[in-house]
Amino acid sequence: MGQNSRHASDQSDWWRDAVIYQVYPRSFADGNGDGTGDLAGVRSRLPYLAELGVDAVWFNPWYPSPMADGGYDVADYRDVDPLFGTLAEAETLIAEASRLGIRSIVDIVPNHVSDTHPWFRAALAAAPGSPERDLFHFRPGRGAAGELPPNDWVSEFGGCPWTRTTNPDGGPGEWYLHLFATQQPDLNWAHPQVRWEHESILRFWFDRGAAGVRIDSAALLVKDPALPDFVRGTDPHPFADREELHEIYRSWRAIADSYVGSRILVGEVWLPDAERFARYLRPDELHTAFNFDFMSRPWQADALRASIDATLALHAPVGAPATWVLCNHDITRTVTRYGRGDTRFDFATKTFGTPTDLALGHRRARAAALLSLALPGAVYLYQGEELGLPEVEDLPLDRLQDPMHFRSGGTDPGRDGCRVPLPWSGTAAPYGFSPEGVDPWLPQPADWARLTVEAQSTDPASILTLYREALRIRRDAVGPCGDKFEWLTGHQDVLAFTRGDGFSCVVNLSADPVALPAHTAVLLTSGPLDDGLLPADSAAWLRTG
Ligand code: GLC
Repeated sequence: MGQNSRHASDQSDWWRDAVIYQVYPRSFADGNGDGTGDLAGVRSRLPYLAELGVDAVWFNPWYPSPMADGGYDVADYRDVDPLFGTLAEAETLIAEASRLGIRSIVDIVPNHVSDTHPWFRAALAAAPGSPERDLFHFRPGRGAAGELPPNDWVSEFGGCPWTRTTNPDGGPGEWYLHLFATQQPDLNWAHPQVRWEHESILRFWFDRGAAGVRIDSAALLVKDPALPDFVRGTDPHPFADREELHEIYRSWRAIADSYVGSRILVGEVWLPDAERFARYLRPDELHTAFNFDFMSRPWQADALRASIDATLALHAPVGAPATWVLCNHDITRTVTRYGRGDTRFDFATKTFGTPTDLALGHRRARAAALLSLALPGAVYLYQGEELGLPEVEDLPLDRLQDPMHFRSGGTDPGRDGCRVPLPWSGTAAPYGFSPEGVDPWLPQPADWARLTVEAQSTDPASILTLYREALRIRRDAVGPCGDKFEWLTGHQDVLAFTRGDGFSCVVNLSADPVALPAHTAVLLTSGPLDDGLLPADSAAWLRTG
């Protein structure tokens, strides 16, 4: 069977069990030798992605941007930043990937724009109460002289989400809302022009061959028009998960469905309430959303079992496939997270200098790869995960770029450590990411020679070889299982399940080796078996029919 052949019968359903590879363009491959990854670099590495066997690529934002938040501060949604290339090159990239059987998903950022976006510049230049300001959330301040922010909300990046403007005469003016960094003013989604604009942006990228969009901060767009203070436990929340969002996504779904073939909507929906989360996945809304619950859980059988059960239970009634995510460009890298005493992911507890056992983390990351790739649904794979890259925790402070770090007053390490440029080849930085002698935008560790694609490609025991094998076997052995899923009974600290009659997966999270469940063949293991037993922190894929 050729690559992607399982989709041949129903191409429009490809996303239900796809492996989607996340490319952070700035750090993937540097084609023009300026130290920053770009579209030329991605194009040159498409054969690598085809060989890995992924079905689609999600590209983090490549739009013109001052990069105040790694490109999530968009100045123009219909172009490409010169740092990355040109719009024509993006079109070529999408077409070339498609010829290799790889679909492209672009990142849409609807909650906010860059403060250099023409709409925001016009709003700043216009008077309070003007139609230009109405596209954003401008308000007078509180206090006798308007010196206090209009409400008590807290930015998603920490600190105050309001910035005071300066009037043309130099005096202090109104405040504007930005749930993220100061340079990311929030749009007013009650305004029809904001809706039309984003519907047009969707069409723009669908017309250029994008197979789907990833919707940034998808549950935050709509605000209570009164912008009231935040009272804990109030329902509805003043800026998260508001009812009006569903109607917006229904209109987006109608646009996606109006295209021949499939166009998919993938939501970045961070919500603690599983039922509220599932409402975004109703048949006329988003196709899928990232499953952050699974990613946030510790490396413990009970916790992961509970997350898998809850995930499958919440997706089934709405008919949407689950997604499985271990990390992304915002999250501590898997190898590092699983090597710590506390293996959960939680933005609030990130600190510098957490003791980490990388060898243990690496073993668990391999097992977690087989676990997530064996579950029913789609899998997101963040660039470098297939290389087992650790979080880079000792970046020089003067090279850090992430606003999350700066807005925390320097206490939060930020997200740069998972965005370090990929090592492709060679024995020293820049490891083939950039031409020799070029210093990449974030420095790479001196000990990454054994983690390069080149080094791992010829090593049968490498994590890259494991991923390649797993993706190949998944196509033929896991793909046809559809939604079938059943736990096997046994050891409390072992996750074992079947996917129909022919395939089962077992993951040992206990401290001791365990016997494999009944099988006719061992298809793949995350590490060597120990006298036929599955060692601690290891996983196996078994043929059972
Ligand atoms: C999302 C992105 C993150 C970005 C934020 C603001 O959470 O994943 O990287 O900083 O939105 O756009």
